[in-house]
Amino acid sequence: MAADKNGDINLPRHIAFIMDGNGRWAKKRGLPRTAGHKEGAKTLRRLIRDIDSAGIEYATFYAFSTENWKRSDEEVSALMKLLEDNLDDLVNYENENIRLRFIGGRERLSKVLQDKMAEAERRSKDRTGLTVTLAINYGGRDDILRAAKKSAELINKGFLSPDSLTEETFESLLMTEDIPPVDLMVRTGGELRISNFLIWQSAYAELYFTDVLWCDFGKKDLDKAIGEFSKRNRRFGDAK
Ligand code: IPE
Ligand code: IPE
Ligand code: MG
Repeated sequence: MAADKNGDINLPRHIAFIMDGNGRWAKKRGLPRTAGHKEGAKTLRRLIRDIDSAGIEYATFYAFSTENWKRSDEEVSALMKLLEDNLDDLVNYENENIRLRFIGGRERLSKVLQDKMAEAERRSKDRTGLTVTLAINYGGRDDILRAAKKSAELINKGFLSPDSLTEETFESLLMTEDIPPVDLMVRTGGELRISNFLIWQSAYAELYFTDVLWCDFGKKDLDKAIGEFSKRNRRFGDAK
């Protein structure tokens, strides 16, 4: 891994994961797609600990997109049930100092899931370690559209003028209001696309694609992605 003069590697402050390939993982084993999602949830729980140990501050996971409602009722219900079950485990990371939060439209989720999400946020809000954000019914376009509506309302009510609507103000209206921009976006499963994830927030993210399926993604794969990130030259438009 590339190291700076102190021997430290250049860590991303915020990593976002597009957890893809669960269906294919299951298919390869002759199992139903839902078995892949179950295994994928195990990967998520394991990886959160590895990310925390690596000293990363923010990790955001794409669990269910605004487009994933197109899947069969059976698959959608299985995914929602898995989220409900896993939230209990995640919030019990009491000793690990992990803060949980959520992005995505909650109104379409079950009351049980909404309550568990609110409870997880409430119980973990004062923790000072890794912030884990789960994106559930999240879409980047939906995020931006909702922020645009909020800013229009603020302007209508006279709390904001069009001239004072800066990038910073707009960012504070996005679902990620208290989370820094994405430094490294990792997609497993071999597809080379963003699929409507954090499109504003990853404007200058380094992208890392791997053929490894999410269920098989482990600590060594995480280290590889971080190692690759640490070698990239982030110019942000400058000529350095
Ligand atoms: C990612 O795995 C999980 C979700 C989208 C919820 P997929 O279910 O998309 O798996 P593939 O891409 O079909 O293999
Ligand atoms: C992206 O995966 C969404 C999540 C990982 C939750 P998809 O499998 O839904 O993406 P596409 O359809 O291949 O672009
Ligand atoms: Mg997929």
